[in-house]
Parts: sequence; structure tokens; C-alpha cells
Amino acid sequence: MEKIKHVIEISTDSSSMILAAGEQVYQCYYGKKIATPSQIVDGYTEMVPAYSAFGGDDSTAALRLTHANGDLSTELVYVRHAAERMDANITETTVELKDRCYPVYVTLHYRAYAAEDVIEKWISVRHTEAEAITLNEFPSAELSFSSLHNHYYLTTLNGLWEREHNLSEEQLQIGKKVLDNRYGTWSSFGSNPSFMLSLNEPATEDAGQVIAGALAWSGAWKISFDYHLGKLFHDNKERRVLSVVAGINDFAADYKLDPGQLFTTPTFMQSYSGNGKGELSRKIHRWARKYSLRDGDKERPILLNSWEGAYFTFGEETLLSMMDGLNKMDGEMFVLDDGWFGNKHPRNNAAAGLGDWQVNNKKLPNGITALCDAAEARNLKFGIWVEPEMVNPASELYENHPEWVIHQPNREKILYRNQLVLDLSNPEVQDFVYDSVASILVDSPKIAYVKWDCNRSFTNIGSSYLPADRQSHLWVDYTNGLYRIYDRLVENFPNVMIQACASGGGRIDYGILKRTQEFWTSDNTDALQRIFIQWGTGYIYPAIAMAAHVSACPNHQTGRVVPLKFRFDVAMSGRLGLELAPKEMSDDELAFVKAAVADYKRIRPTVQFGDLYRLISPYGSNFAALSYVSEDKTKAVAYAYAINHMLGNLLPQLTLKGLDPQKHYLITEINKSNGDAHITCDGKVLRGDILMNHGLKVNLESEYDSAVFELTEA
Ligand code: DGJ
Repeated sequence: MEKIKHVIEISTDSSSMILAAGEQVYQCYYGKKIATPSQIVDGYTEMVPAYSAFGGDDSTAALRLTHANGDLSTELVYVRHAAERMDANITETTVELKDRCYPVYVTLHYRAYAAEDVIEKWISVRHTEAEAITLNEFPSAELSFSSLHNHYYLTTLNGLWEREHNLSEEQLQIGKKVLDNRYGTWSSFGSNPSFMLSLNEPATEDAGQVIAGALAWSGAWKISFDYHLGKLFHDNKERRVLSVVAGINDFAADYKLDPGQLFTTPTFMQSYSGNGKGELSRKIHRWARKYSLRDGDKERPILLNSWEGAYFTFGEETLLSMMDGLNKMDGEMFVLDDGWFGNKHPRNNAAAGLGDWQVNNKKLPNGITALCDAAEARNLKFGIWVEPEMVNPASELYENHPEWVIHQPNREKILYRNQLVLDLSNPEVQDFVYDSVASILVDSPKIAYVKWDCNRSFTNIGSSYLPADRQSHLWVDYTNGLYRIYDRLVENFPNVMIQACASGGGRIDYGILKRTQEFWTSDNTDALQRIFIQWGTGYIYPAIAMAAHVSACPNHQTGRVVPLKFRFDVAMSGRLGLELAPKEMSDDELAFVKAAVADYKRIRPTVQFGDLYRLISPYGSNFAALSYVSEDKTKAVAYAYAINHMLGNLLPQLTLKGLDPQKHYLITEINKSNGDAHITCDGKVLRGDILMNHGLKVNLESEYDSAVFELTEA
């Protein structure tokens, strides 16, 4: 039996991950915090590799590499470990491993965030062999569960464009379940690179052991759940093991690593709750706002984006009228969407202009700076749309640099939305993209916000920059190139906000969110479908980052007709914005919007910095309800929506959560469209324990009826 020499504890306030190092390094435990980790190890609990490598007797390994001499094997043995306290909340632990026979070194990195119960994991690899080695599979992290648990229930966010992040839950069976994505530019179509995993039985909102994981990578990724018969360390018996392995997708992505070169994977975040999925989401949101979302502590502005109100058809006058309308509603920022650029190849539709980031002189003869000034004169900030990773063949950029696109030299180029993807593995192209965006910001220094779009994925993968034996690097080098561009922009323009748009819903991950303040949740602005999309997205991502816009009626994507109030009540549960032409609204509607905007400004800190409580799931119900509660529990906002009206439906009883049972709260219904309240206790004071046990009967009496309640400590 292998002798254990070190117990390595990586813990947070309420969770422990225990590693044990003998000749190799094992994971002994991950779950609720335990006080005496060494007892777990001494008791010879079931140990599984902390990060397995292919080559010994384990064929389900995480890391797989090929040495220059063709040897396919790797055996990682313990060298040393160290822990460093970065501040009162963060501790970083490194565990160094080395191949038994070759000079290949792998470091396991763990960063523990105590208060948020989050552990980030990643690895780095280097070697000093004479020639390059090839990384074939190089995940960021492995997280394993031995037979301590009998059943596993996997919750994932799946969906396509305009129907993103649907929730689904399934019991894992023996075998392999793989979530992956090979789009290259989009990380979150198909599936989001994240999951929740309930142990033993499906966790509910408020009960059960559940783990979440999320990969911080904006390119192709893979998370596999391999439930197999594993050999466990302590008695050499075969038992069931679930290995969760998460990282960059290795599909056609072999990576040659030169001697001395360091390869660092993206980070994988994991968190644990013994009290259900609601608490788990709140932990992740708190962590994100503090550590993994740009400016997670700053309020987001209420903006109007020009897309659905104007599409490609506008001149200065249209935009000024939108600004006037927004100003009357007391909005805070105007964002000019697609269609403002290109002269030789004007961007009047999606067929031309991408790549030529000069203002279209015909449409906007006074330029962008004049628009910024016009916005400022109306007390608005100004934002602008770009899609700088892309090029239309009908562009000056493509005429000058056809070699800059991702393509295979002997094959026809495949267009998608009439465009091609620029090859960001090429530093020259990275510079071009950086300069394109930077010069827009330098020329018009009042620009406060960039909506960064990305409307297609990889096809005919090939790079005229990468050498023949490194074409497969494109997946990794593209995303790292993109990050390099973002990082330069963030450094040089720290006050300019960036929205990760990506077709709507296409790039929602913690890699991009370190560099952006928010994401465009979906191109689908239909309020009914948004309830589902935002519900799923909120499992892993916080409301402050979730752009939610009120659009025109009938909805442009679904044709659905829903009241303006319902549209506002849904959008006000995220980062509120507008996506319409104010001049098409009636005076009554404008008055409603003005009041709703004022209400949102008041509840904004609670929505954007508060804790999310999911109250009634829209899945399988005729209603949906959620709330946010401020950290000090003095304020809350609750939302209730009727999504499907059937005669005889029971009205929802809204039992609130997360309040202080002893505090008294003044309950005010806001956003009332005709003055009538949906509750009998509007304007009354009730104790938290009543609100959380008896609750509020909400009279939602027709489809798309909705209500928003503001609670303030009395
Ligand atoms: C897709 C985005 O999601 C939309 O909001 C809009 O910006 C269009 N692209 C513009 O082409």
C-alpha cells in the first residue's frame, strides 16, 4: 500500500477539498467542511487521482501527451507543494508533479475563496525534453467522486440561438456523458460551459448537496462526466468512480509545446453547497461580482440600444430622435448598433462593410464624436457596436488582406452571415483588431461602452500564419489572441464598459466576463421566453451582467403580443435596457416607461448586488417568481409572472425567502399599470417571518399579468 506523506487541505469557509500525497497525489474528499482532514486520510477513505495522466494503469486519464520519441505515456509523481495566503480571503496552493521518467513538469493550481466557497483550479505544463512534446488532451481540472455517493444528477444549460440556457436535469448512468462545444468563437451555444451536480438525490432550491462547475474559456471546450469502474487506492478493489474532467476541447487541437515553454490552461471554478441549488447560485454570484466579472461592484446604466428600433436603416436624425425619447424616459445611455461604418462598402445590411471601421459619411456626416456630444447634451452616455473579429468579403480589409481569414488554402471559403472569421492566432491581425477598436475610442473619447458582437463560428479551420505542423493550435491561439486584445483594451481604456454580445447568448462564460461588464443574454427579446432564458442563465451568472431589454410589440422574433408592463417586469429582473424606437410609443406608454425607469433606479442596487432567490420555477408551472434580497436584508424586490393562464388555475402564494424573520418590511407594489395592486397588503408592513411562511397571495388573473413588489425595512 502506498504510504501517504502529506495531507493537503484546500478549504473554504464551508467546504473542504482534501488531497493526499504519497508517491502520487490523490483527491480524498470534496464536500462539506470537515475539521480534521488527516483523519479522512488515515482512515483510508477512497482515494482517486487528483489529476490523472494517461500511461500507467489508468486509461480514463485527464492528461494525455506524446513525447517526441513517440512514447504515449505519462506518469505523474509528487514533487512538492506549497500554500500561500494571498489576502484574508484567498489562499493559493500549488502541487508540483513530474513525470517519473521524462523531464515533464505539471503544476496543479488551486485558488480557494473562503467566504464564497469557491475553488478555482487550473494546471500548467512545461518540459525540458530535447524536442517539442504534443499535448493531446490537457484539461484544466479533474474532480472525482468515489463510491461515497450512490447517484448523481446533472443539471445543464442547453439551447440554441434565441433559445439559450434551457435547464435540464438527468441522472448519470454508468458510461460517459460529454458536454462540449466546437464553435471556436462561441462558448455558450449548444451548452454553457458550466453545470450543477447533485449528489445522491436531486437537490432542490433549498436542500441537498450540490456542486457547481464552470470553465472560464470563450472558445471550444469539453466537460466530461465519466462514471466508470475505477480502481481505488486503498484496497485495490474496483468501485464506481465519477470523474468530471473540464477544459479546452481537445478535438483536432493537438498542441506542440516547445522545450521551456509554459502552457497554462484556463481556470475551472467549482463550488459546493449542502443547502441546495439556490444557495449555490448565490455563492457563485457573490464570487463573480467580487472576483470574476469586470466591475462587479459598479451599477450598470439603463441603456437604449438602437438595433430593434432601427436595424440598418438610420441617419443622424433617427438616432437623435431615439436619444430624445430616451432622455424623456430618464434613461442613461444610448448605444448605436450595427450599420454605422463602411464607405466603399457601406454597411447597409449584413452583406458588406465588416472590417472597415470608419464612420459611414453618408449616414453620419458629422461623425461619431458629434453623436457623443448630442448624447451628452441630453444627459446620456454613448456606446457603440463593433464586430471586430469578422470581415465581409465586400470590404476594403478583405481586399487588402484576404490571407487574414481562417480558411483552408485549397478549399472554397464558407461564408456565414456573409462573413469570415479573422485569424486571431496571427499577432498582426490581433494588432489590427486592437487598433480598429482603440482608434474608435481615441477618436471619440466620450464613448463609454462597446457592444462587442461575434456572429459566426469557425468553419474550414486553417491559418496562413501557423506553420503546417501547428495548424491545430488555432483553437487555443484564437481565444488567447482574443483575450490579449481584450486585455490591452481593458488596460488602456479602463473606463469603457464592454458587453459580450456574440449573436446574443453566444459567449457567456467566466473567461470573457473577467474582461467585460455584461453579456447580451439572447437575441430573443420576447418577454415570455426571456423568463426561461434568464432563469437558466441565473443558475451560474449574476443578474448584474444579464442584459435584459424591453422591445416593441408584437415581438420581432416571436410575434407574441404581451403588455408593456409584463415586458418591463421581466427586464427589470436583470440589467434593464430598451430595444425600440421611442417615437413609436404613445404618451401613456412613455409615461409608464418613465415611472418604471425611476423605479428601477431605486431597486437597482438590490437587483444588481443582491442575492437571488428563485421562488416558483417557470418549468412545469403556470407562474414564475423570483426575488433579490440586499446583503443586509433591509431591502428586497420580488417578481411574479403569469405565463400560462388556464381557468381554474390556483393563484400563486408567494412565500418569500432570504428575509430577516424579525425585520418588518413595508411592501409596495411598483410598476402598476392601471393603479390596481395585485395584493391586498399593498402599502402595509409585515414581519419577515410572515412573508416567508404565509407569503402573499398574488392576483395574477390573466396570461402575461405580472407584479413587482418592493420591500423596505420599516
Ligand atoms: C446580433 C446581435 O445580437 C444583435 O443585438 C445586433 O447587434 C446584431 N447582431 C447586429 O448585426
